[in-house]
Formats: sequence, C-alpha cells, structure tokens
Amino acid sequence: MSDRPLRRPPAEVRFLGSFPGALPASRLPEIAFVGRSNVGKSSAINRLLGRKAAARVSATPGRTQAVNLFDLDGRLLFADLPGYGYAKVSATQRDAWKHMIGRYLDGRDTLRLVVALVDCRHPAQPSDLALLASLQAHARPALVVATKVDKLTRNERAKQLPSLTAGLSTLLVPFSAETGEGVDAVWDAIEGAIR
Ligand code: GTP
Ligand code: MG
Repeated sequence: MSDRPLRRPPAEVRFLGSFPGALPASRLPEIAFVGRSNVGKSSAINRLLGRKAAARVSATPGRTQAVNLFDLDGRLLFADLPGYGYAKVSATQRDAWKHMIGRYLDGRDTLRLVVALVDCRHPAQPSDLALLASLQAHARPALVVATKVDKLTRNERAKQLPSLTAGLSTLLVPFSAETGEGVDAVWDAIEGAIR
C-alpha cells in the first residue's frame, strides 16, 4: 500500500452503491462497520467522513438492509453493513443476516478491519458477543467502538465503560458521532490496519 497518510476526513467520498447481494470486486483495502441495528453505524461513518449525510441515518432501526460501499479518495472503501439483533425482525431475516455476514467475512479478501460498534449504554449483548466470536473465528481484525458516549453522565461513564469492557473482554474506543470523541482513535486504527 501507499505510504501517503490518509486525508482525514477524505477530500472526496464517492457512494458506490447499495448491494443486497454480491459486492463489486475491488482492490482497495476495505473497512467494515458492523453492529446492532440503531447502534450508530451510519452516524459514525458520517462523522469519520466529515459529511452530514454520506450514509443514511435512520429514525427507525433496521433500515440499512444492504451493504453500502463508499470510496474514500480512491484509497480505501468503507462498508456500512446491515444491523443485526433488531427485535422486530423475523428468524428468517436473522438467518439471512448471519448468512450474509458469514459470506462477507469469508469472501471479502480486501477486508482489513471490522469496526464493531456497541451501544455504551447497554451491558454486553449476546448478539454482540456472537459477532465478536465470529470475527475471531474468521481471524478478522476488529476494533470495538462504544457509541453514543455523549449520552452518559460522567458518573455513568465511569461505571459503564469498564463494565462493558469486562463484559465483552476487549478494549474499546469511546465514541460519539455527536461530539466527535473517538474519531482520531478510529482513524489511527484504520491507518494502522491498511498499512
Ligand atoms: P441501522 O442502519 O438501522 O442498523 O442503524 P445504524 O446503526 O446505522 O444507526 P444510525 O447511525 O442510523 O443511528 C441511529 C440513531 O442513533 C439515530 O437517531 C442517530 O441520530 C442516533 N445516534 C447515532 N450515533 C449517535 C451518537 O454518537 N450520539 C447520539 N446522541 N446519538 C447518536
Ligand atoms: Mg445504518
């Protein structure tokens, strides 16, 4: 890969499309964003891209049903994956999601880092633990990001973040799409992953 540092945010973001099935072949390194519905994947992407609405932020959870791909300065791709764990989806849809993510993790050779987002306000969820286990099983590097930290008071934060860290048995980056906290840390991890 190139030694040139990435532009933060990128100068040019190109939406490549929304892919419910097979993804277009690509040679660029790819960063995927995964997490439960409504956790803030699209908002995190927009914040990292320094754009208001590159990725669609949903008022109703479970909106992003396909993989949305973004090209950043022709240097790397961001993949906004459909959310999982939304209570109202059927078992069939849940199976379809598992199948989709399994195929993606298996088959996407250019995937360099999975940014796994968890909601900082909730304890470790079984679906999050299952995702982290699946990333390990597929030997995919992951960065765990705790979203919406702007919603915690200082006291809540002092309790919640360590307990979530313990519950997930992993380090996590506190993040807020609202305040921009954690943006540099996530970019640093991305930069490290594509080097
Ligand atoms: P799906 O695509 O449906 O799976 O959702 P998503 O994970 O992409 O979440 P999205 O970015 O659409 O955000 C869901 C809701 O959470 C929206 O109302 C956002 O405005 C809100 N939200 C996301 N990130 C943050 C954050 O860091 N702080 C606050 N306060 N709200 C956030
Ligand atoms: Mg989304």
